[in-house]
Amino acid sequence: MLSVSQAVRQRHSVRAFLPRPVGRADIEAILEIASRAPSGGNLQPWHVDVLAGNALEELRRRVRDRLSQGLDQTEFHVYPPELDETHAARRRAGGEALYAAIGVGREDKPARWSQFLRNYELFGAPVGLFFSIDRGFDRPQWAHLGMFIQTIMLLAEERGLGTCAQESWAAAHATVSEFLELPPDRILYCGLALGYPDREHPINRFRTEREPLSGFARFRGMG
Ligand SMILES: Cc1cc2nc3c(=O)[nH]c(=O)nc-3n(C[C@H](O)[C@H](O)[C@H](O)COP(=O)(O)O)c2cc1C
Repeated sequence: MLSVSQAVRQRHSVRAFLPRPVGRADIEAILEIASRAPSGGNLQPWHVDVLAGNALEELRRRVRDRLSQGLDQTEFHVYPPELDETHAARRRAGGEALYAAIGVGREDKPARWSQFLRNYELFGAPVGLFFSIDRGFDRPQWAHLGMFIQTIMLLAEERGLGTCAQESWAAAHATVSEFLELPPDRILYCGLALGYPDREHPINRFRTEREPLSGFARFRGMG
C-alpha cells in the first residue's frame, strides 16, 4: 500500500488514459473515504456528479456541438485577469513542458488549440467527475471543496488510477450544468478526468517543477 508521502509525490496530472473501465465500487469507495476530508464547520460543501459510459459520451457530444460556436464566458476568473510575472512564468513553464512532451512547438497554435480541446473529451478518460458548490458559498467553502478533490486524487493514486483536475470545464459550464440538471443556485467548479493512465503516452511522461521550500515557507521560533 502506498504511503501518503508516496501518493502525494507520485501523483501528477494524467492526460492520456487506457480504455479499461473503472468499477463503480472503486469510485464509490474513493468518494466515501474522500468525504472524510475536513471542512470548516463540517459543512461538507461539495457536490459531485460521476459520469461514465453512455452518459459521458452524450455529454462529450453536446459539448463538442457547443464548442463549435465557441467557449462559454466563465462565471469566475479561472486565472486573475492580470497574472503577475512570478505566477505567469510558472504557468508558462507548465504549458511549455506539456507541449514539448508531445512535440508541439511554441508557434504551432492549431496543434496547441486541438490539444486544449482534448480537455473537453476528458483526455479519453472512461470516467468524468464534475464538482459543483452552492453559489452562496465563499472562499472558505471553495477551499474545502479543493481539499475534497485533492483527497480523491490521492485515493485514486492508491488504486493505480490517474486523474487530471480540469478547470477548463468552467468554459463549458452552461452545457454541463444543463446536462447535469444542476439547480440554479449551484455553480460548476471543475471536472476531473479519472481512469487507468496510459503510462507509455508521452503526455504522461513529463513532470512539473515546484518552488523550493524557502520560496513559500517562513519559519520562526524553530531554530
Ligand atoms: C483545480 C485544477 C484545475 C486544473 N485544470 C486543468 C485543466 O483544465 N486542464 C489541464 O490540462 N490541467 C489542469 N490542471 C492541472 C494543472 O495544470 C497541474 O496540476 C499543474 O500543472 C501541476 O502539474 P501536476 O498536476 O502534474 O503535478 C488543473 C489542476 C487543478 C488543481
